[in-house]
Parts: sequence; structure tokens; C-alpha cells
Amino acid sequence: MSSPLSAASIRDLVRADQVHKDLYLSPELFVLEQREFFGNTWQYAGHVSQIPNALDYITVDIAGQSLLILRDNEGAVRALHNRCAHKGVRLYTAESGQLGARFLRCPYHAWSYRLDGALASYPLRAGYEGTGMCESANGQGLAPVSGLKVYRGFIFVRVNLEGPSFEDYFGEAVAALDQMVDRSPSGELVIEGGVLRNTIHCNWKFYLENINDTVHPVSTHESAVRAAQSQWTETDPNAPKPLAIEQILPFGQPYAFFEGMGGRVLPHGHSISGTRASVHSGYGELGDYVKALAAAHGEERAKAILEHSPQNVVLYPSLAVKGSPQTIRVIRPVAVDRTVIEAWNFRTVGGPDLLFDRALNYSRLVFSPMSIVAHDDVHLFEQQQQGLRSGPNDWVSLHRDFNAAELDTLPMDTNGSSELLIRNQYRAWAAHMTRRIA
Ligand code: FES
Ligand SMILES: [Fe+2]
Repeated sequence: MSSPLSAASIRDLVRADQVHKDLYLSPELFVLEQREFFGNTWQYAGHVSQIPNALDYITVDIAGQSLLILRDNEGAVRALHNRCAHKGVRLYTAESGQLGARFLRCPYHAWSYRLDGALASYPLRAGYEGTGMCESANGQGLAPVSGLKVYRGFIFVRVNLEGPSFEDYFGEAVAALDQMVDRSPSGELVIEGGVLRNTIHCNWKFYLENINDTVHPVSTHESAVRAAQSQWTETDPNAPKPLAIEQILPFGQPYAFFEGMGGRVLPHGHSISGTRASVHSGYGELGDYVKALAAAHGEERAKAILEHSPQNVVLYPSLAVKGSPQTIRVIRPVAVDRTVIEAWNFRTVGGPDLLFDRALNYSRLVFSPMSIVAHDDVHLFEQQQQGLRSGPNDWVSLHRDFNAAELDTLPMDTNGSSELLIRNQYRAWAAHMTRRIA
């Protein structure tokens, strides 16, 4: 970037129908983005089923900061900065585990903290008398994360002190989480099968844009569809299909299908891709499961849950939800050109095994490193990261279906292939990036 990073210069990078290549390429902007954009907004941290028992914990990096999410002795979920108040050591480095004691203890000089983060003890206390340490920030212990919300088992955090409330930030987008939970007849979901974690060598925005890009499957995934078609020669459209065939064949729909899926954009960058239909709409029905859902929620709600299968709901910017199959993807930026993508699968407690098999199979087929789909996408994202460095055009096109009326209209419904879903992400990005800076 040649200009200083003022609020005005950042806003200039996001035009009504284009974004500047620096959004993806500038290391300087990435540092600011971690602090301001990811710090000011709500990020998905994990699910309560990862910490089912008292003293269970997970660690997670959000907005460039290390966080410790734990369950205390009363069963409450807590989020603390994973940074010793003495000299900054990360207290816990494992991805998950058991605290094993009622105190958190730093391995370096044995400063210990209560589960709420308060400083409990430290060696050679007499040496601190009269020094002001206890009154200083170092004496305050592990800082709680400013914003913490557990919504129906999904744990979210906002790292910076000020910012929108969880409710204001997500608004109607949380309906995607309701849909996910309500697909369980018992109302309970558990993460099972571990995580598929994939490091990709590109900026996080390419991945998130692609989640809202329904025009690419026709060309990008042509070979995967051809492979599935070559394996499925059954001509009866009602013949039951193997899971892999059922899940891959719909990627081969024509442009008109994706356009007709419908989309919806919400404030703060959230979106629903596939309000009317999606590649998941044609999965076979499960008779007893349908009855169990109707018993749990009533016929009408059960029908609404089962008929609503968006391609993706993006809870911008860290979470993409697929209610059917029950999988989520989590986006974790690491560097301007490096991003970790995680795929987690949910079992519906009381639901049939086949639902969970669908989630596992979909993740394996479409999200995993050995997927027959993901490598097509990732190859192209990494080529974008390289290709955008070539001039002379500094701008990325987001023109498709642009209409000036959209600038003042949120929420807004649109067709399934409009780039409004992507433009909406960047308008929110610019707004949150510049909230605290002049
Ligand atoms: S750095 Fe943690 S006790 Fe010293
Ligand atoms: Fe794709």
C-alpha cells in the first residue's frame, strides 16, 4: 500500500462494485484487519460439546490473539486471554484438554489463576509488597474476553472492548443455528469425528467469497461432476443413490439452477445462499426421522426445518453453516496469504446415523484435503493470490447484478448467483475496519 491507512483510504478500497487488490495482498492491511475488523466483530470460537465437563478447555486464535475457552466448576463457559499476566507466556498450548486442577498455573514462574482469571498466588510475595504490581494490569490476572455469548451451544467471542452486541451483530442470521439445532429431535448436537483442518496459501477473503459464489461449480467442478456421472448410469431418477453420488451430482446443475436458488443479504456482511433451493435439496427423505422431528417440534415447524436447506449461511466472517448436511466451516486467518480452514461435523442426538454419515461424507468429499472438489477451489484461490500481483488493473470485479438501490437496502433478497452476497461482505468489512480509526 502506498497511502497511509486512514479510515478514508480504507473506504476507498471498497467501491460499490469493485474491491482493490490490496484487500488480499497487503501485509500492512492484514495486521490492521486482525486488530480492527476481527477484533470488533463476533467470531465463532467453538461448540459446547468440545468442553462437556468441568475443567475441559480448548484454545483458539482469534483476531491474532490466543484465547482459552473453558468450562468452570459450575458448568459455565468462560473465555480468557491465554496470556500469563506476569510476562506473557501462553498458559495452554494444546488444542484441547483438561485443566486438571482448580487453578490455572503458568509453567514459567508458577503464577496461578482462578478459573475466572483472577490472580490467586505467585511465589516470593514479599518481594512485591509496596511495588504497585497488584494494582497494575499485571496484578489483574488473565483478562476475560470482552464479549462472550453461547447461543444454543455455539460459542462466540468479540475480542475488542467496544462493538455491537451479539444480537445486533447477527440479527436474523442466527436462524441458521436454530435450524441446525432444531434438526436434532432432542434439541442437542454434538461435534464428532474430529476436525478436518486445512492450511491454504491465500488470503481468507478468497475462501469466504467462494462460499457465496454459486457460478463457479459449472466450470471449476466440471471434472468432479463428470467422474460422478461416469459412475452412475442408473436412469430411474427415483432410484436410491449412494451417498457420494447423491452429494456430488447436484454440483453439475446448469447456471439457471444456481440463479434460481435465491439469496439474501443481511446487515454486517451475513448472507444466505440458497433461500429457495440448493445442491442439498434433493437428499432422500428419512421416514422415522421426519416423524421424530414432527413429534419434537410439531408438523409445521418440522416441515419448515426439512424444506429449508440453504447452500450456505455465512455468519460473517468466521463461520459458514450447512444445516443439511450438518457441517460447519470455520475460517481462521493466519497471515495475509495463509488461512486455516476447519470443517466440523455434528451428530444429532436422537437422530438417525445416516444424518451424521451425510455430514462426514460431505466433509470428506467436498472439504477435506483429499476431496475431489476442494482442491479445484484451493488451486484457484492460490492462483488469485499470485495473479492479482500482475498489473495494470488493481481492481477485482463484483459487478454482476449490481444495482445502486442495494446500497440503501438491507436486508435484501436477490437471485442465487448475484455478487451482491460478496459486495455485502466488503461493505461490512469497510465499516467495521474503520469504526475506531480516523
Ligand atoms: S511468565 Fe507466567 S509466571 Fe512468569
Ligand atoms: Fe467450489
